Amino acid sequence: MIFVLSGAGLSAESGLGTFRDEGGLWTQYDLSEVATPEGYAKNPTKLLDFYNARRANAAHAKPNVAHQALARLEAEAGAFLVTQNVDVLLDRAGAKSVLHMHGRLDRVLCNKCGARWDAPEVMDPFDHCGQCGAQAVRPDVVWFGEMPHGLDEIEDALSSAEMFVAVGTSGTVYPAAGFVEAAHANGIPTLELNLEPSGGRFDDGRYGPATETVPAWVDEILKR
Ligand code: APR
Repeated sequence: MIFVLSGAGLSAESGLGTFRDEGGLWTQYDLSEVATPEGYAKNPTKLLDFYNARRANAAHAKPNVAHQALARLEAEAGAFLVTQNVDVLLDRAGAKSVLHMHGRLDRVLCNKCGARWDAPEVMDPFDHCGQCGAQAVRPDVVWFGEMPHGLDEIEDALSSAEMFVAVGTSGTVYPAAGFVEAAHANGIPTLELNLEPSGGRFDDGRYGPATETVPAWVDEILKR
């Protein structure tokens, strides 16, 4: 199977910001306030306001042709789609089994009992969990210092994949940033699709906007 890891660059042309590019989210917000358990404990209103705005942006965004191409690659070639993005645009493009390793904006998690449910339009720190009644409602996204989802499944896939491809990610946040090394250690060829080289650790690279590079690459693969 082809293992495809995606990052914010996949959704950039759908109008959603990246994190570290010029004007990116982490140049506008202090991530310690809006993407850590400490930030949530200190000021839940500020954190929830941040996610309410991101959820609204994501809900209004449309999957682009790169999302659609990866959904086609999953359907026609059994690609394993792992995303760091929380915008669920791959799912909305028709992908059926996306592994959301950093969680997803359209879901809510109870910090006390672990219950999950569909997010309301606006989350409020005084919302109560429907399961345990605790006032401990948070976005179902993985914050810095927390364990990403699906690492066992990802490790298995990185030992048996025929190819590892990274789309639109800067390769700066672990564990995702280490997947390319794991692929190399397992003798798996690696390719990056990005605006520019993210650090030169890939066997091959195609550079340009994802809406150009991803559909062209997927067409090549499906014609093999
Ligand atoms: N097409 C392709 N690639 C693009 C495009 C585009 N139109 N626009 C930007 N990129 C690339 C940039 O060159 C960069 O390599 O997308 C990448 C964006 O990097 P980041 O902003 O660091 O986003 P990402 O790699 O997804 O961040 C990883 O960090 O903060 C955490 O949880 C957050 O999931 C996120 C993780």
